[in-house]
Amino acid sequence: MNESEAIASPPLTKIPVHVAIIMDGNGRWAAARGLPRLAGHRAGTENLRTIIRACVEFNVKILTIYAFSTENWGRPAEEVEGLMMILEDVIDRELGELHQEGVQLHHIGHLDRLPERLQEKVKRAVELTKDNHRLILNIAWNYGGRDEIVCAIRSIVKDGIPPEEINDELVSRYLFTAGIPDPDLIIRTSGEMRISNFLIWQSAYAEWYITQTLWPDFNREEFYKALQEYSQRERRFGKLSDQGCC
Ligand code: IPE
Ligand code: IPE
Ligand code: MG
Repeated sequence: MNESEAIASPPLTKIPVHVAIIMDGNGRWAAARGLPRLAGHRAGTENLRTIIRACVEFNVKILTIYAFSTENWGRPAEEVEGLMMILEDVIDRELGELHQEGVQLHHIGHLDRLPERLQEKVKRAVELTKDNHRLILNIAWNYGGRDEIVCAIRSIVKDGIPPEEINDELVSRYLFTAGIPDPDLIIRTSGEMRISNFLIWQSAYAEWYITQTLWPDFNREEFYKALQEYSQRERRFGKLSDQGCC
């Protein structure tokens, strides 16, 4: 039995275009093994490769990952510095392969508070991969949903947009995710039932999938389970089933 057969049933009847993941539980994964928290973050980063491959395999076109929030600066300096180093390592190690596999990298959030060398690396990675089309990978790093909305309001005011021209579509164009469709499915690992300042605007009609599995253990089969669950959902967007909404 090959890997695809092992998880073939029930089949996926619809595939989300855009999956967003709150990659949570690295610290608990490490604690359960008597390891330092950073070992959990490293294991979580390794796991990302598996999920990127699974997105390509299952034909998910856009993956957004929440990797560092505006609130995560409040953690001990050692952990914050470690996380910045891990991001730098990932770019150094994985960029070539991601580029070869046709992944287009984007960053959502603010770069300016990051170490300068890291800012340059992120910008170079985005530039290098801008013409790839197999999978769009948005990395939310120093990202906060409220921060994003505040920045959008500032820019709208600065651009002198008249109030009557402000609508959903215009606001969306001022967000970090401009041009990217809203997430269809948001996955949160490790069981927490909260949004933690992630994609507040964009998640208006996303389907949620929350699993107890900790992020470093969230493998291809777990991802497939989330897609199966999504396949069973009826999205009504406020309408009724018989109005042909879903
Ligand atoms: C998620 O794992 C990664 C980041 C927030 C950077 P956590 O570090 O939040 O792991 P737990 O929630 O403490 O287990
Ligand atoms: C959310 O996880 C942020 C990321 C996964 C990057 P947190 O662990 O920071 O969220 P809270 O503090 O439990 O809400
Ligand atoms: Mg957490």
